[in-house]
Amino acid sequence: MELLNGNEVSKKIKLEIKEKVITLKSQGKKTPHLAAILVGSDGASMTYVAAKEKDCMEVGFDSTVLRFDANLSEEALLEEVEKINNNPDIDGLIVQLPLPKHINEKKVTETISYKKDVDGFHPMNVGMMFKGLKTFLPATPYGIVKLLEHYGVETNGKHCVVIGRSDIVGKPMSALMLQKNCTVTVCHSKTKSVKDFTLQADIIIAAIGIPGYLTADMVKEGTVVVDVGITRVEDATAKSGYRLKGDVDFENVAPKCSYITPVPGGVGPMTRVGLLLNTLDAISLYSK
Ligand code: GUN
Repeated sequence: MELLNGNEVSKKIKLEIKEKVITLKSQGKKTPHLAAILVGSDGASMTYVAAKEKDCMEVGFDSTVLRFDANLSEEALLEEVEKINNNPDIDGLIVQLPLPKHINEKKVTETISYKKDVDGFHPMNVGMMFKGLKTFLPATPYGIVKLLEHYGVETNGKHCVVIGRSDIVGKPMSALMLQKNCTVTVCHSKTKSVKDFTLQADIIIAAIGIPGYLTADMVKEGTVVVDVGITRVEDATAKSGYRLKGDVDFENVAPKCSYITPVPGGVGPMTRVGLLLNTLDAISLYSK
């Protein structure tokens, strides 16, 4: 069993991005600029946005964070999005989710210009991704593909079982694995006997959000297991009072695997890199 070490691979990719930014600058081209909008003070969201700012600094991107009170109106938020859409200095925009209840998330994500939609949530980008056209990819699936490529995990003709069908992970992940010549099965909360499918899998991507869901009896010897779960579970011994638990019963599943991602340190850092890669891609795709 070998660990798919997202911490290590993300460091290496960040160095490559940093080099590319230096080259862009030396050619007199634009420095990639990521903007993030944060509404309210949800703890996890504040942590994510701060991490994105730090990542941008590390690779030499410009970064702007706009922070607003939770009572910001939907109309005012849409205006802010439009301002950024029309600001040629900003290449990528994310509006951190979840948004307060009175704001329609769908309306907001669809107002972000698809040319700046580095989350890859806009229907235009979803469509382009499904067609295999070059566009922004949702950060987690993008990061997972990069991680599998780094370790030379064979995908041609392999059976990949994706557990979960969210718009952010499950659905795009299945499209990307199909493009990598896997036979893809998508299991979800209504699937009867998920185990019947996972036992046939060469690659399992668990993105269902139930801690410890994938147990050793569901996995055959030699499987590649990618764990997308990051549920906070209470842990009095941790400084924060919680620890992150994945969708995989790591301790018992890992000995059966050829490769497996740890939680934390597997998919999480690769998601962060996915966003940086999209922001870099924004320059070649849309910067004049
Ligand atoms: N909240 C949790 N994950 C994400 C993400 O990938 N993008 C945005 N914008 N918000 C999130």
